[in-house]
Amino acid sequence: MHAVVLVGGFGTRLRPLTLTTPKPLLPVGNVALLERLMISLAAGGVTDAVLSLGFKPEPFLRAFPSNVCAGVKLTYAVEDRPLDTAGAIGFAARVAGIHKQDDPFLVANGDVLTGLNVAKFVEFHKSSAAQGTIHLTPVEDPSQYGVVETTADGRVLRFVEKPAAGQTSSRHINAGRYVFEVSALDRMPGVAPMSIERETFPAMVADSVLYAYATSDYWIDAGRPDTYVRANTDLIDRGVAPAISAQAKIAKSATVTRSVIGEDCQVGENARVVGSVLLNGARIGENAIVVDSAVMGQVGAFAQVTSCLVGQGGEVRSGAVLRDAKVPEPI
Ligand code: GDD
Ligand code: MG
Repeated sequence: MHAVVLVGGFGTRLRPLTLTTPKPLLPVGNVALLERLMISLAAGGVTDAVLSLGFKPEPFLRAFPSNVCAGVKLTYAVEDRPLDTAGAIGFAARVAGIHKQDDPFLVANGDVLTGLNVAKFVEFHKSSAAQGTIHLTPVEDPSQYGVVETTADGRVLRFVEKPAAGQTSSRHINAGRYVFEVSALDRMPGVAPMSIERETFPAMVADSVLYAYATSDYWIDAGRPDTYVRANTDLIDRGVAPAISAQAKIAKSATVTRSVIGEDCQVGENARVVGSVLLNGARIGENAIVVDSAVMGQVGAFAQVTSCLVGQGGEVRSGAVLRDAKVPEPI
C-alpha cells in the first residue's frame, strides 16, 4: 500500500528547535518522529511512502540515505509554494504515481504518533461505501483540532476545523490519518493551495462519501512544545523507549527523572533534569534545573528553566530563571 505523509509545515510552534531540524526529524525517545510513524505504517502494510515537503529534502536524505525508513521505500514531493493539506496530498499523490493505481492509499499527518492498527483501519474503510475514511480519537478539549460528528455506523455528518466555543458538542477529533480511494484525488487537483479540513472534507460530507473510524488507542500530536515533550516522556511512562543514551555524559551527582537524553549530551554536577528532553548537543551546567523542557543548546550553571525550548546555539545564562520561554526567541 502507498502512503502520503504530510511533512511540509514549518513547525512554527516548535521553533527554535525546528529552525535546524524539521519537525518530523526531531527525536521522540531518541528515534526520529518520522521513523516511529513509519514503523506503525509499515506494520499496517504500507510499502511505499511519498513525503510531502514544502522545502528542500536534504535533511531527510541525510537521515535516510538509502531512501528507506522502517523498511518503507521513500520518495519526495517538493512543493514550490505551500499547497496546504489537500493541495499537498493531490500534488504528492501524482508525483508518486498513486493516481494511476487501483488500491486505496493512506495519508498521515507527519506529527502524529498513535497506536492505531493501520491494517484494521484500512479493513474498516474497505467494508464501507466510503470514498474516504478519517481516523478519530476522543479528546477533552477539541478546540485546536478538526471536530467530527458521525452517525452510529460512522458516516460523517459534519467536519468543523478548529471550532469556536459552542459550535459543536462532539469530542471526537480528526486524528490525522486517512484512507482514500484513488477517485478522491479528483477532488484534490494538487495545483493550487487547498485545505482538506476546510474544503475537501466538507464537500465529501455533502456528498455522503466520508466515513470515520474511532479508536481510543494512544494518540498525540507532537507539534506543540508541551506535546513534543510529553510524546517523549509518554514513551518512558509506557516503558517503550530506552530513555538515556549510553554515550551521554551525566555527572554522578546529577539527577535525571522521567527524561530522554540523547547521545551527545552533557549534564553537570548536581544538575536536575525532570520530565525533559535533551537533544544532541545539549549542555546542562552544574546545579542547573531543567523541568518539562526540550534543550538542544546550553543551560548555564545554576539556571532554572521550566516549560522552555532551547534551540541549537541557544544559551540560557548562568543563574537565569525562565518559564515558558524560547531561547533564542524566534523572530
Ligand atoms: N506538504 C505540506 N504543505 N504539508 C503541510 C502544509 C503544506 O502547505 N501545511 C501543513 N502541512 C502538514 C504539516 O506538516 C502537518 O504534518 C500536517 O500537514 C497538519 O498540519 P498541522 O499544522 O500540524 O495542523 P494541526 O495540527 O493544527 O491540525 C491538523 O491535525 C490535527 C490532528 O493533529 C488538522 O488535520 C486537524 O483537523 C487535526 O485534528
Ligand atoms: Mg499538528
